[in-house]
Amino acid sequence: MSIASLIVLIVAIHSVHSVHLLVGSHSMSLSHVKLTFDVAEDMQNTGRHIVTEIRWPVMKVIADYPARKGFRSLLLNKTYEHASKLDFLPAMIDDSGWKKDDGIVDILKMFKGAWPLLSLPCEEALEAEKVARNLTSEGYNLGILDPFSGLCGAVAMRSGKFPFVVLSPLVEPFTLGLVAGFPVPYSYVMSLTVAKADHEMNLIDRSANVLGHSFFRFFMWLQSYLLAKQFADKSDAAELFKGFGNTMVFTNSHRFLEWPIPTSLARIDIGHRDTHGEDKIPKEILDFIEDEQSLGTIIFSMSTYTSSGKMPEEVMSMFAAAFAKFSEYRFIWRIHDFPSELKAKNIHTVKWIPQTELLNHKKTVLLITHGGQNSVLEAINAGVPMIGIPMMGDQHPNIERVRTRILGLRLTKSELTEENIAKKIQELLQNQIYTTNAKKLASMLSTERSFLSHTNSTWWLEYTLRHVNQLGWIIPKGADQGYLVHFGFDILGVFFLCSLLLS
Ligand SMILES: *[C@@H]1O[C@H](CO)[C@@H](O)[C@H](O)[C@H]1NC(C)=O
Ligand SMILES: *[C@@H]1O[C@H](CO)[C@@H](O)[C@H](O)[C@H]1NC(C)=O
Ligand SMILES: *[C@@H]1O[C@H](CO)[C@@H](O)[C@H](O)[C@H]1NC(C)=O
Repeated sequence: MSIASLIVLIVAIHSVHSVHLLVGSHSMSLSHVKLTFDVAEDMQNTGRHIVTEIRWPVMKVIADYPARKGFRSLLLNKTYEHASKLDFLPAMIDDSGWKKDDGIVDILKMFKGAWPLLSLPCEEALEAEKVARNLTSEGYNLGILDPFSGLCGAVAMRSGKFPFVVLSPLVEPFTLGLVAGFPVPYSYVMSLTVAKADHEMNLIDRSANVLGHSFFRFFMWLQSYLLAKQFADKSDAAELFKGFGNTMVFTNSHRFLEWPIPTSLARIDIGHRDTHGEDKIPKEILDFIEDEQSLGTIIFSMSTYTSSGKMPEEVMSMFAAAFAKFSEYRFIWRIHDFPSELKAKNIHTVKWIPQTELLNHKKTVLLITHGGQNSVLEAINAGVPMIGIPMMGDQHPNIERVRTRILGLRLTKSELTEENIAKKIQELLQNQIYTTNAKKLASMLSTERSFLSHTNSTWWLEYTLRHVNQLGWIIPKGADQGYLVHFGFDILGVFFLCSLLLS
């Protein structure tokens, strides 16, 4: 047998046994891409799967984020090129995150510039010859999609005619319900608009919540409608743009943390992914935190806001002054540019931290965080209480979950003063309840770790692959209910009619 035919044979055997995955992300947050890549990398590491990643980044950090070893990459450039011309994006991601209010004007400005960001990936996936040919001819077996890829992620997958599932880095119940097919009670299931525990919502909160959810529903509908119109020349536009469609949804969450919401077998929480042990704590940090005089380590990381963004100097000096009051503790502060005049003996600043390893270090007593879902889960897995300073989006509800479960405290942007920061740290260090609860929850989660298939994303994705044609059986259609049925207006109408007739 010639070498060439041997190679052909090996390639043929390989392609019979390996499953080709396409993972897609369109993200404003590195944590989304990271989670997608982590899960895909786990799949690749089994030796049973080949991974291609398709990315339409809107931020430089995401465009530059390296693909994992062995991944093939398809980068959709047009979206990024448009995003880099928008002035509101860097502003939103940098210091405006620290403004006291999010402001309706900012939000409207965002929508105006954001539309092309939603539609360009469709254009590229459908029109860019290379990408389109790639998607349709490569014969992917399964797509894995970040729900924040918007509809165009689904369109890209559909245009290649392969099944896809959704992998959600965050736990926003409305989108998850829509994607996994279960109805979400608008009146009490937390929306991004009203981040309050269901039992704490009053009539006004619940009304705002209904409006918040309805707005999202309208937005999803509008997106499908406008995109279908924009691409009306495509013969299969109706099919391609029919909304997300119901599918399996894997969430970076844990059922012990969720507030009461309906769910279904089509939603699988994989928020246990424990990457602990993959990175090493650098020696300079170890020397600093293992100082015998230290009573404990406090980690301060605002993620994107301080690594790629900027923290205003006045905010930095508030934190520095508050931290200096706790001279017996050691602070590890993740930040890019730190003015030398703010340096103090008990503060060590670094551009990057191995957060999981630091959280699991025996001296760590507290995490001060923006409340991203990854950071919250990492702290919970490690049994470390938190002070959450939510900046935007799902960080508000994440920190509400932490607060109502007494795993930590919240500090809002408008409460930020040196005194308040010091007060919250003091409260957390003095009152043992937060640490006790955090440790109890960590122990609940780790006991469950023995049932690894519950949270093992590789296991579940392979399961999905095996049964991909039967998924319709476990995916409910409840999310498709119209308003009348959803709110029980039809029943109220019948009662009303009956009482009219009887009176
Ligand atoms: C993305 O755009 C840059 C600059 O326009 C170009 O150099 C690069 O090759 C493009 N990448 C892909 C994958 O098309
Ligand atoms: C699809 O893209 C990958 C990665 O860029 C490339 O290796 C492959 O040859 C492409 N396939 C087609 C059919 O263009
Ligand atoms: C997760 O499941 C996959 C597939 O069954 C298996 O190969 C892998 O070892 C599991 N991972 C863990 C950590 O148990």
